[in-house]
Amino acid sequence: MVLSRRGSGSINLASGQTLAIHTRTHDEEDLPHATKRTMADHLRKYETLFTLTPQRMRMIVEAFKDSLELGLEKPEQIVPMVPTFVFGWPTGKELGDYLALDLGGTNLRVCLVTLQGDGKFEITQSKHRLTEEQKHDDGQKLFDFCAECLKTFIDTTLRDDKGIHLTDGKKLPLGFTFSYPCSQDKIDHGVLIRWTKGFGAANTEGNDVAAMFRKSLEKYELPVTLEALINDTTGTLLASHYVNPETKIACIFGTGCNAAYMEHVKDIPKMAKYKIDEKADIAINCEWGAFDSFEHEHLPRTKYDIIVDETSNKPNEQAFEKLISGRYLGEILRLVICELIDEGVLFLGQNTYKLESPYVFETAFLSLMESDPTDELLMIIGIFSHFFAVETTLAERQFFRALAKLIGKRAARLSACGIASIVSRMGYLDEGCSVGADGSLYNKYPKFADRIHEGLVDIFGEKGRNIITHHAEDGSGVGSAIIAAMTKVRKASGLYVDL
Ligand code: BGC
Repeated sequence: MVLSRRGSGSINLASGQTLAIHTRTHDEEDLPHATKRTMADHLRKYETLFTLTPQRMRMIVEAFKDSLELGLEKPEQIVPMVPTFVFGWPTGKELGDYLALDLGGTNLRVCLVTLQGDGKFEITQSKHRLTEEQKHDDGQKLFDFCAECLKTFIDTTLRDDKGIHLTDGKKLPLGFTFSYPCSQDKIDHGVLIRWTKGFGAANTEGNDVAAMFRKSLEKYELPVTLEALINDTTGTLLASHYVNPETKIACIFGTGCNAAYMEHVKDIPKMAKYKIDEKADIAINCEWGAFDSFEHEHLPRTKYDIIVDETSNKPNEQAFEKLISGRYLGEILRLVICELIDEGVLFLGQNTYKLESPYVFETAFLSLMESDPTDELLMIIGIFSHFFAVETTLAERQFFRALAKLIGKRAARLSACGIASIVSRMGYLDEGCSVGADGSLYNKYPKFADRIHEGLVDIFGEKGRNIITHHAEDGSGVGSAIIAAMTKVRKASGLYVDL
């Protein structure tokens, strides 16, 4: 970081970009006292709006538990509690080469995973950025693009360096990590309930996405067998358990948010029709992002949350996710800023048009603002001047940082409520449990994990310390491969559930 005495200079971002910085010629010392007071008053208002008390958190947990229960009882509930047809934990002895295709919220990834046993593996991968157009075009075209990327990976990476010779009709097993809510009645099949995370590809909701993807695999004549359709949380659960057998719950806090855990088949009334051994356990993909959707009875939504919801491509849906996930936090903060611009509180006399477009304020900026180590908050100066062409006073910057903290903290505390509801349902509090967590918020947002842990203590008291989150293994790649391996073994031993 370089800053000249005149208040201009530059910051180097981790991305390699350099931000030019110009401080305003007058800083907070020159501000009229009334303006300073106004910022502090505003902050108090937002503190009230965004703060979750322990009592409120405990009420949310109770309502959450009821929703989980209902989802296990009957099909088509708000929190769908999807049985994934992944039965029990991996043995750690799963071996061999598996392909994983990961269609997440932002990127498409193709991986070759070599499982080596004893919790060890090797992974080779390629990543492709998805365009907004691809997310909204025809669904079959999206799956064709997935197959095309897989073909390039097989043709370049596999045939060249890996010594895997795909001749004579040999096919590689593939796990398809498709991280959107799908209802499943077998492991290699899944009907898309709804798109989330801003996706909206046509002709896909209500269809079997595994069948659609198979069609694309055939079109490109790919030497692979689609063994399993996997949610990223289920992959994370299995991959984390593969390396750390204490893991009982997995969560993703990224562009979207969700959790999976292992449930007893006997405690899932809606599965009675399958006549599965009652002693079996099955991984449940909760799809908890949908908690409180449509009804909006339990979550403390502010007017900014309501605007985010109503202007989204899926109003009323994913109510919990919209308060927590990386796709939305930046937008919530931007809406507060815009309100204060309209009220004449912020950026007086400056042109603020760059802040007026939806979703221009990235959640990564909240992370950067919270982790700015300088007294003058130089990172915040850089963000506002470089991306939005506005200059900030120190008082404004302190206000933005405090606001980011409120929004980030609320997200982490709500996440704690979700974890607590599963812990409490499964009776894990006394014995303790390890929660494998992944996603950009969890991995990159400063203090996100600490705030979840604090939240768990607020909910459960001292016993909350028995619940520890840890960075999970790559569920969408390694987890997908482990599930494909487990499925292959199950199919070979005639245990495949097909109705
Ligand atoms: C999806 C889930 C997914 C989560 C995290 C949510 O929007 O509905 O299926 O697990 O995002 O990627």
